[in-house]
Amino acid sequence: MVPPKVSTRSKSTPNNKRKTKKSEHSTKESSNNQGGINETSASSAVIPLELHQSLLNIFKTSFTERLNSNFTILLQEIKQHLYNRDFLKAFGQHDYLETYAARWSPSRALGYLEIFNHVSDYIFMTEKQPSEKDSLHRIVCLGGGAGAEIVALAGFLNLFHREVDEGGESLQLKANSKITKHSERRFEVVAVDIADWIPVVESLQTSITTAPPLSKYAPAAVKDANAPLAMPNSFHVTFRQHDILSVDFSELSSLLRDANLVTLMFTLLLTAWSITSSCR
Ligand SMILES: C[S@@+](CC[C@H](N)C(=O)[O-])C[C@H]1O[C@@H](n2cnc3c(N)ncnc32)[C@H](O)[C@@H]1O
Repeated sequence: MVPPKVSTRSKSTPNNKRKTKKSEHSTKESSNNQGGINETSASSAVIPLELHQSLLNIFKTSFTERLNSNFTILLQEIKQHLYNRDFLKAFGQHDYLETYAARWSPSRALGYLEIFNHVSDYIFMTEKQPSEKDSLHRIVCLGGGAGAEIVALAGFLNLFHREVDEGGESLQLKANSKITKHSERRFEVVAVDIADWIPVVESLQTSITTAPPLSKYAPAAVKDANAPLAMPNSFHVTFRQHDILSVDFSELSSLLRDANLVTLMFTLLLTAWSITSSCR
């Protein structure tokens, strides 16, 4: 499994306008949009390294116990089941799912954040009127139980909610201004997966919407500025357990009907699981 490469290059927009990158920590687009990235387009935003780190920290916080216990042993067991193509076993128990998510989802989350950022003009292309900015976006992640897409989407939303100061420095440490008053864009994410990822999804949702743990020795300024990656009222995830290759069409269409974005990042090889299961 090759981790996706994380790029900090500036991107071109669908209408071919290339925006200028100021610095790695600058996402400011124009002088009349002080304090934030361009509200209509994040495609030119360079993702700050500290946002990458925040995404990785979500996994660290969510699976601290697992990472500090018998992680390596469980990892070897999962690898063995995957090697044997025994997906029923590989994704069949809670400790395996946590281990899988802690091992493979973090790097993918960074890659998916890059992708969402790159295609953001397409994701938000229906938002033509300013009044529509305060909108709820429904996103369905098929095969998204392991959390990579979920955490990436939280990071993507964070990009719209952060502010930059005049000099282009991120105001990451100013929690009160980190979530701007005009950042009412909200994400309602539905993760659909054949395996029972509920504990993993719930754990990630909690870490995403809770300020990260700090050392009791952290400076007061850092404590004051400590803020969640996404606010609970702007980012919500629900989980639905379905085999999307055999789920009733009416069920699937009701999930997809109002979706602004559907991601489909699951391994077709795992269809073997469905076939094996239905033959038993
Ligand atoms: C290789 S993991 C990828 C996880 C995640 N989407 C990512 O890109 O990091 C494949 C995921 O697809 C799910 N999956 C496989 N076959 C599926 C099916 N028929 N219906 C729903 N989910 C499925 C698995 O349970 C697993 O969570």
